[in-house]
Amino acid sequence: MSVRRRPYETHTPAPCRNRMHPCPGTPTPAHSTVTETHVITTSGLTKVYRSRGREVTALDGVDLHVREGEVYGVIGQSGAGKSSLIRCVNLLERPTSGTVTVAGQDLTALAGRGPRAGRELRRARSRIGMVFQHFNLLSSRTVQDNVELPLEILGKSGKERSRKALELLDLVGLADKAKAYPAQLSGGQKQRVGIARALAGDPKVLLSDEATSALDPETTRSILQLLRDLNRQLGLTVLLITHEMDVVKSICDSAALMERGRIVESGTVSELLATPGSTLAAALFPVGGEATGADRTVLDVTFHGESATQPVVSQLARTYNIDISILGAAIDTVGGLQVGRMRIELPGRYEDNVVPIGFLREQGLQIDVVGQDAPLVKEGAK
Ligand SMILES: Nc1ncnc2c1ncn2[C@@H]1O[C@H](COP(=O)(O)OP(=O)(O)O)[C@@H](O)[C@H]1O
Ligand SMILES: [Mg+2]
Repeated sequence: MSVRRRPYETHTPAPCRNRMHPCPGTPTPAHSTVTETHVITTSGLTKVYRSRGREVTALDGVDLHVREGEVYGVIGQSGAGKSSLIRCVNLLERPTSGTVTVAGQDLTALAGRGPRAGRELRRARSRIGMVFQHFNLLSSRTVQDNVELPLEILGKSGKERSRKALELLDLVGLADKAKAYPAQLSGGQKQRVGIARALAGDPKVLLSDEATSALDPETTRSILQLLRDLNRQLGLTVLLITHEMDVVKSICDSAALMERGRIVESGTVSELLATPGSTLAAALFPVGGEATGADRTVLDVTFHGESATQPVVSQLARTYNIDISILGAAIDTVGGLQVGRMRIELPGRYEDNVVPIGFLREQGLQIDVVGQDAPLVKEGAK
């Protein structure tokens, strides 16, 4: 992969390389078939830390599939195993068992660990960019020298290093800061340097562990936008770890929820939103509203794209002669998709409303019965 300039520069922009999310105006090949290529796969990944006679299972059989060209978010609370997962993906941490394949190469089969990694593993790792929460820049080196560091390790000549570093700094919008020192930069600028450095080895994938957690909301937005731009312009696959749902909401194509070392839910954002009872979907797109009394049935109605609930709801009221209250409603863009959600209330208990609920489902709407987990799971499993 080579560095592409930003599209707003005056020369002809490079062709978009992202097959999953082509930039607008990118011609589609006549015989294009969307192949499901996984660029990162972990299977049965476990990591047990042993220290002072204590064992902590940080990863407990993780199967992760990240498709080429997507932004994949892993979300979970502190201690869920997110950092362990990302460190196992680039073999900074050697898994206790299971395999990690990146860009077709089984990294777990390569020799060495940590700083004593063998040559092949070091080479494979140089093709995996990594961005950290606390930037990890060397304070005694200029911005340019920080970006050049991985290129030194790769044995590139001084001229080549300097050309590449300046190109990368331009790509992240810091061309004028090459000679500055990290202490002279804002948090957002430091993270841009961290990203430029991560791109030095022309990686196919970029791993990011809480890259925006130390930044204010506005800077967070600009860094996320940069990651999205790099994903689109370079066709770069991004695996990012976060504990913030907003991060997933704004840039991820797919997401996984981790709890106690396991992935408990995963899928593309649209698949998740279409999964009844999905914790991630509810968190990505909450809609409020409390039942107005006992003996009421509260439903969350989700619709995607063009479908609208309004006529269906009035039809329901007419057909079954029932009064329907709207408790809450919202339309939002999640993972680039327009999604609407409406919380409605029907008189009577769930058992009394099985037929109207069936009617709504027949109209193609996704219905979650609020507070009725058991029947919902059963019906979702059909
Ligand atoms: N080097 C280590 N030695 C021992 N235990 C660790 C180590 N790193 C992480 N852990 C433990 O593994 C679990 C998962 O940690 P981590 O992967 O950092 O989770 P997260 O990034 O989701 O907060 C935690 O219980 C943590 O204390
Ligand atoms: Mg962590």
